Amino acid sequence: MQLPEFVLCLAALATSDIHRTIATGSHEWIAPTATDARSPCPGLNTLANHGYLPRDGRNISVPMILDAALEGFNVDPDGLIVAAKFGLLSGNAPTTLDLDALVLHSLIEHDASISRGDFALGDNLHFNETIFTTLMNANPGADNYNTTSAGQVMHDRLAISLATNPSITNTPKEFALRTIESALYLSVMGNPLTGIAPKEFVQIFFREERMPIEEGWTRPTTSITRASLNALGAVIIANANWTATQECEALVLGPDTTI
Ligand code: HEM
Ligand SMILES: *[C@@H]1O[C@H](CO)[C@@H](O)[C@H](O)[C@H]1NC(C)=O
Ligand SMILES: *[C@@H]1O[C@H](CO)[C@@H](O)[C@H](O)[C@H]1NC(C)=O
Ligand SMILES: *[C@@H]1O[C@H](CO)[C@@H](O)[C@H](O)[C@H]1NC(C)=O
Ligand SMILES: *[C@@H]1O[C@H](CO)[C@@H](O)[C@H](O)[C@H]1NC(C)=O
Repeated sequence: MQLPEFVLCLAALATSDIHRTIATGSHEWIAPTATDARSPCPGLNTLANHGYLPRDGRNISVPMILDAALEGFNVDPDGLIVAAKFGLLSGNAPTTLDLDALVLHSLIEHDASISRGDFALGDNLHFNETIFTTLMNANPGADNYNTTSAGQVMHDRLAISLATNPSITNTPKEFALRTIESALYLSVMGNPLTGIAPKEFVQIFFREERMPIEEGWTRPTTSITRASLNALGAVIIANANWTATQECEALVLGPDTTI
């Protein structure tokens, strides 16, 4: 490298990269490479894109997930531990999972998602702007989403899937997962107690799987717990006008939890 180029490089580093790294520690957003594993979950993908989870998305243990969600989003382990343990069943490794394996249909992955297509219709892994239109256009006239709009989005997405997917699965299990996921995006991108989340933050979270720090987002100061998620979930459910189109058996998930 010639000296002028070297000096230019240093100047570029000093004015951008170094400052950016200082601002965000080791947690700057870096887009995944073609070989990095990513999931149908915008939350886990965002944590990987910011280095709270391994950026390659592989060999991830339950404690790694719980630590990352707490550090990155202030989600208490009690709100995620069942999902995280369930996630281990996506692969054969005894104590770790790879993010891409979470695409396994009907483990956690379900139909009528808000940003991904249905399994039987094609791609149930990647963000899809057409699918996302329902959430994007929700709560017209306001600059935030809330528990009312989140319930309406769940209703409308399910109606689209019921009309277009003859193989749809829609039992109380899927509804419970969809509800907690809606409570999660409102909580991590907004206020975990009121469920009010700026549209701009939610859209960046889904589209870019990025924490919108440059746009003014900060990690929630209120701990996001099973109780806070269920409180938002109750209002979301009231606005989703949901009915099952199939039934499922009760699932025992641990000594204190049956759904
Ligand atoms: C900070 C923690 C988390 C946040 C903020 C989060 C958020 C979300 C959201 C908003 C969705 C809905 C996406 C959609 O409908 O298009 C989702 C889906 C999903 N999440 Fe997470 N999640 C978190 C933790 C987890 C954990 C611990 C697991 C399990 C290891 C998990 C597995 C999944 C899977 C498999 C889906 C796909 C469901 C589907 O739409 O088919 N997530 N998550
Ligand atoms: C990580 O997971 C891959 C499979 O995804 C496996 O082949 C590899 O041995 C694991 N590496 C470590 C260090 O556990
Ligand atoms: C996105 O979803 C729409 C609606 O289901 C579908 O027609 C389209 O093929 C999907 N796009 C991709 C890239 O999968
Ligand atoms: C959500 O926002 C809409 C539009 O501003 C409003 O009518 C509705 O009452 C709000 N819901 C909640 C729970 O705040
Ligand atoms: C709620 O669902 C029921 C049964 O599917 C339907 O008859 C009713 O019209 C729905 N109400 C609203 C407000 O969407």
